[in-house]
Amino acid sequence: MPDVFEAQAREHRQLFLDEALHAARALGLPPAPTDVSAPRLEILHAALALGGYPPAGPFPEPALPARLALAHALRRGGASHPPSRAYYDHLDACAEGIAHELARSLPAASRVLDAGCGTGAYGRAYTQAHPGALVEFLDTAEALAVALPAVAPPHLRHAADLLAPHALPGPFDLILLANVVHLLPRDALPRLAQKLRAALRPGGLLVVKDVDAGTEVGALFNLSLLAFTPGDGMPVEAELTRVLEAAGFEVSVQRGLSLSPSSLVWRAVALR
Ligand SMILES: C[S@@+](CC[C@H](N)C(=O)[O-])C[C@H]1O[C@@H](n2cnc3c(N)ncnc32)[C@H](O)[C@@H]1O
Repeated sequence: MPDVFEAQAREHRQLFLDEALHAARALGLPPAPTDVSAPRLEILHAALALGGYPPAGPFPEPALPARLALAHALRRGGASHPPSRAYYDHLDACAEGIAHELARSLPAASRVLDAGCGTGAYGRAYTQAHPGALVEFLDTAEALAVALPAVAPPHLRHAADLLAPHALPGPFDLILLANVVHLLPRDALPRLAQKLRAALRPGGLLVVKDVDAGTEVGALFNLSLLAFTPGDGMPVEAELTRVLEAAGFEVSVQRGLSLSPSSLVWRAVALR
């Protein structure tokens, strides 16, 4: 099973390229509209470039009719959707082999946080690869109720908002943040990085796994994020690396897992 963003980009490539054309025409590009944020415009331009359309236009008539109201979403943010079991079943199936590949590549740790756990696929894979670990699964109360109603002891569940001002539990040896950053507002990332740093013991490891926005799959997935979520999409590798370094991490980045070639994995060690 391909990773969640690879599946979507492959199935809906032409739809997203056509939606980019519709949006470019509706926004009157060029020039750049003043009511669309720079990160969103960058994502639109990346998708237009994939379709072979230079930023200067003029943009041709799209082949398919408009379906996503993307220009509106670019201006105002996409709609947010309540979590559904079908969504989480799909995510869980996509994570299957990839979560195990990632878990096997990580060092042994005693206390682990799976932050934004969804069904807990990444934390569960970690306990299978490292049976001594205690894993704590954290997500919003709304998501946990649908995706992970219970965990087997001694593992724990925490209902919490990662972006709320209060501290996380801890200290952890390892924090997993798999496929979460792409859903968060970009301007919330510096504070979240500091909060995760504070929840790790010195020398502890934060592992961020997400889509590589610099790939073709990443560009198409990012466009879908603008349409279907209120956020600004996934930042490029250098932007997230800078945020992590500024929060007190030493960062290395792995490009592509063998089962998910369009993923990036940031390994960020909490400096002492
Ligand atoms: C795309 S899912 C990934 C789930 C899981 N990590 C995986 O890869 O299968 C993103 C998860 O992050 C959670 N999430 C998003 N924003 C959050 C926040 N502010 N606080 C806690 N969890 C959050 C969502 O509820 C969702 O379960």
